[in-house]
Amino acid sequence: MNDDRKRWNEKYSDPNFEFPDDPIPELERRTSSLPDGRALDVATGTGRNAVFLAEHGYDVEAVDVSDEALARARQRADERGVDVDWIRADLAEFDLEPDTYDLITVSFFAALEHLPDLKAALSPGGVLVYEHHLRSSDPVTVGPSSDRYRYRSNDLLRACLDLTVLVYEERRRPLADGTAAVATLVARNSHGGTQSYPAVAEGTDGSR
Ligand SMILES: C[S@@+](CC[C@H](N)C(=O)[O-])C[C@H]1O[C@@H](n2cnc3c(N)ncnc32)[C@H](O)[C@@H]1O
Repeated sequence: MNDDRKRWNEKYSDPNFEFPDDPIPELERRTSSLPDGRALDVATGTGRNAVFLAEHGYDVEAVDVSDEALARARQRADERGVDVDWIRADLAEFDLEPDTYDLITVSFFAALEHLPDLKAALSPGGVLVYEHHLRSSDPVTVGPSSDRYRYRSNDLLRACLDLTVLVYEERRRPLADGTAAVATLVARNSHGGTQSYPAVAEGTDGSR
């Protein structure tokens, strides 16, 4: 069995190993300005982003290396009455079709080496929403214990400069079980010399 699969299956076999039920905040906050259509949730875990997207009308594929994670994700989708195409695969072996997804989400999975293929899999105008743990000199209690699995400042931004970066932020986030240091990126697959941009909701910004 693949090392990642074994390691993550062991983690998910522990009933005390849990991820939040809610999707990542940036996804929830931005739903109305993201393109509709086909979505891919990478390293979906227990499916919090995938189920949320299916509830919002997306045609969703969700990949994870762990059977145990996907068993929990399937149960969540059944409870919520939505369909998701759950795919058990190591991302390194998953065939990403170019120009396919209107939205790709990645949360808390170190995938810099897969970014060229993930970006190519965005359809024209497709959006990548990515959150990951950062290295931090401040005390953070949530996320990988080793810096090996955390991004350095601007790693994610630099890797996406060939997209139109709509949001990039690095901050500490207080959570119910501690504090995390998180990078958030929202970036659009631009094409051509002229872009179109999501509208800011009326009333949130009166300036020109
Ligand atoms: C920290 S969890 C995050 C889960 C989910 N994205 C979330 O935010 O709740 C990381 C996930 O990556 C998955 N994973 C680890 N290595 C993988 C690989 N090589 N290919 C696909 N998924 C992988 C694990 O099974 C695990 O579910």
